[in-house]
Amino acid sequence: MHILEILNTDSFISGEEIAKLLKISRAAVHKQITRLRGAGYNIEGAQNLGYKLVSRPDIITPEELKHYLKKNGVTEHSIFYFNETVSTQDEAKNIAEKDIKFPALVIAERQTGSYGRLRRQWISDEGGLWFSLALKPEIEPDRIPQITFVASLAVCRAVEIAFGLSPQIKWPNDVMLNGKKFAGVLTEISAEVGKLNWVIVGIGINVNNPIPDSLKGSAVSLLEATEEKINRAEFLSIVLSEFYGLYALFLEKGFSGFQKEYNQQSMLIGSRVSVDTGDGVVEGVAQKIDANGYLWVKAPDNKIEKIIAGDVIKVNSKLIQTSKI
Ligand code: BTN
Repeated sequence: MHILEILNTDSFISGEEIAKLLKISRAAVHKQITRLRGAGYNIEGAQNLGYKLVSRPDIITPEELKHYLKKNGVTEHSIFYFNETVSTQDEAKNIAEKDIKFPALVIAERQTGSYGRLRRQWISDEGGLWFSLALKPEIEPDRIPQITFVASLAVCRAVEIAFGLSPQIKWPNDVMLNGKKFAGVLTEISAEVGKLNWVIVGIGINVNNPIPDSLKGSAVSLLEATEEKINRAEFLSIVLSEFYGLYALFLEKGFSGFQKEYNQQSMLIGSRVSVDTGDGVVEGVAQKIDANGYLWVKAPDNKIEKIIAGDVIKVNSKLIQTSKI
């Protein structure tokens, strides 16, 4: 048992009782309280009454995260926490190569060399949620890219649950609020013939972090959208709970298990779009995302183009900026 599971926000608990529950001395209790206060926990101490937890800090240490994960039913998880790292993707890849228990969560307060799709720079200042999940699903490698859909939809659902907002997905990996991007997903894999080693799903969410002026036209944070400072550990545990629920469905039924919901959340369907496929730009009206995850676009000659991957650069004649969140 951990002292944070004992401290209560509604009532005081005596040092003696804490010591008994943790099977440690009163002096050791005092030491732990001092450590927690140092980490930003506001703990009130009153003579004859004991200790009361007044507020928790906005940190995402495993200790803090485990509290909320348990509350949201996510228990089986290894957690690797970094105050600062180059990229949680790289850390997760290293970790996945070792003999670890999947799934694993790698999270950092700040990243100095983080990247998104097509190796675009991704800005990860303090206050956001920057994390990577190391997974080992037993599925055909060609279905792996659809895990990006699992993650984008999980972020959408979590924002709806936590803040009552209605985000939209810009296929394949962007999550938007009122036409501005607040989250992105990057899925990377390592496989050999007939053998999948690991999948790393990287998720970046603008939460309490500032958005640089140069990106204000295309990016937004949840802080700006909700006008309130967000408890990131609590919000992350909702994202993960939604992710694992959808992931289980995906492993069982494939993308068809939530294809309808994904299409309903898509900002493209019915809109005039321009998609850069790498081989050229496809223009037309977006019809749907099919069971394989392809985007169907009806060209002016009524021909349907099925796009496997690409960058949506325009929606209803509006240019979409795609870099750095
Ligand atoms: C995109 O929109 O292109 C995807 C962005 C993914 C960013 C996340 S932040 C956590 C993880 N670490 C990285 O370096 N990238 C991903």
